[in-house]
Amino acid sequence: GSADFDLYRPSEEHDMLREAVRALSEAKIAPFAAAVDEEARFPQEALDALVAADLHAVHVPEEYGGAGADALATVIVIEEVARVCASSSLIPAVNKLGSLPVVLSGGEDLKKKYLGPLAKGDAMFSYCLSEPDAGSDAGGMKTKAVRDGDGYVLNGVKRWITNAGVSEYYTVMAVTDPDRRTKGISAFVVEKGDEGVSFGAPEKKLGIKGSPTREVYLDNVRVPADRLIGDEGTGFATAMKTLDHTRITIAAQALGIAQGALDYATGYVQERKQFGKPIGDFQGVQFMLADMAMKLEAARQLTYSAAARSQRVSDGGGKEHLTFFGAAAKCFASDVAMEITTDAVQLLGGYGYTRDYPVERMMRDAKITQIYEGTNQIQRIVMARNLP
Ligand code: CAA
Repeated sequence: GSADFDLYRPSEEHDMLREAVRALSEAKIAPFAAAVDEEARFPQEALDALVAADLHAVHVPEEYGGAGADALATVIVIEEVARVCASSSLIPAVNKLGSLPVVLSGGEDLKKKYLGPLAKGDAMFSYCLSEPDAGSDAGGMKTKAVRDGDGYVLNGVKRWITNAGVSEYYTVMAVTDPDRRTKGISAFVVEKGDEGVSFGAPEKKLGIKGSPTREVYLDNVRVPADRLIGDEGTGFATAMKTLDHTRITIAAQALGIAQGALDYATGYVQERKQFGKPIGDFQGVQFMLADMAMKLEAARQLTYSAAARSQRVSDGGGKEHLTFFGAAAKCFASDVAMEITTDAVQLLGGYGYTRDYPVERMMRDAKITQIYEGTNQIQRIVMARNLP
């Protein structure tokens, strides 16, 4: 309702943060973006630059050694990195996705143990919910965690795991009580070095080629009981609460990709001459750019207002219709990013279709934002069930 409507207002600190991340991204991440895509290799330069500037996991609370950035600041970091390299933006985004279950539901000891190394840049986090036969129907997962003495034994296969193999820590959702469906799912922290953890071959993808996506195999992985995040049976709710906050980071990624494409196309149409003048002098081209900028701004407003809600929820406020707004921001911003990047390719014509220009990469990278952290069809189910 209208009583819940409260405008976000980026502070001067947010504006300064944006300037700093933009400068760092252009100097240290953009120069490698094309090669990272072409060679489908992990953007180590980006990780090093983000860690050196303490921008790799800004959401970690101060009490655990982090920067304690608010949700809007986290969005700004992801947005600005994605503007030059979507693959690299998955470093701060998935560090938040993987670790948020611990932040939201973990006990004090678990937080100290796992958030400290993340904040320092010594470890990254991944999030393991999906399985080969449980994607949209996340509650249909098969991975099991069986209580055994002073620990649990995990068995199963997780699929589509972003940054798998690179991350040191994994939040794994697994069935502890098969009779209770979503209420019988629990969340655990699994370490890369735990005996029985291994990884599949990197997926060959359309976009975000610099961010490895692999299966995670759990073969009789024994973890101590204190790796359980929250209580038994609360893992699915924790996983969903996490997505309420982190779908906003995917919206941020979509905004950044779209802004990168719009900026590139805007520069291009002023240089490219046909019929004796820059093509930007033609009204048909101007109208396309106007529509692109309009849609992008609408997506940004929705995303920032969702981020403000996410922050108020984290600060102990009410529910803020966060489930709706997180889904809406992700769904809308990703659809807009697909439209804008496609139009950017169109504005560059034949050149836009080649790898000599960055907009085709941006178009390929944009596509995943309509799919991961829940397809946009699932977002519509979530919105319909949680209308504000
Ligand atoms: N907050 C808190 N609890 C929640 C919740 C939320 N937003 N949503 C659900 N729950 C809890 C509730 O306890 C609920 O029970 P009640 O209704 O009794 O309260 C319980 O979970 C079950 O919820 P549903 O009945 O809604 O469950 P469902 O089986 O119908 O599924 C769904 C709901 C929305 C379709 C869900 O399965 C879903 O979100 N699917 C998409 C999964 C997804 O987003 N995967 C992305 C993987 S991450 C990724 O892409 C990784 C990457 O590396 C980038």
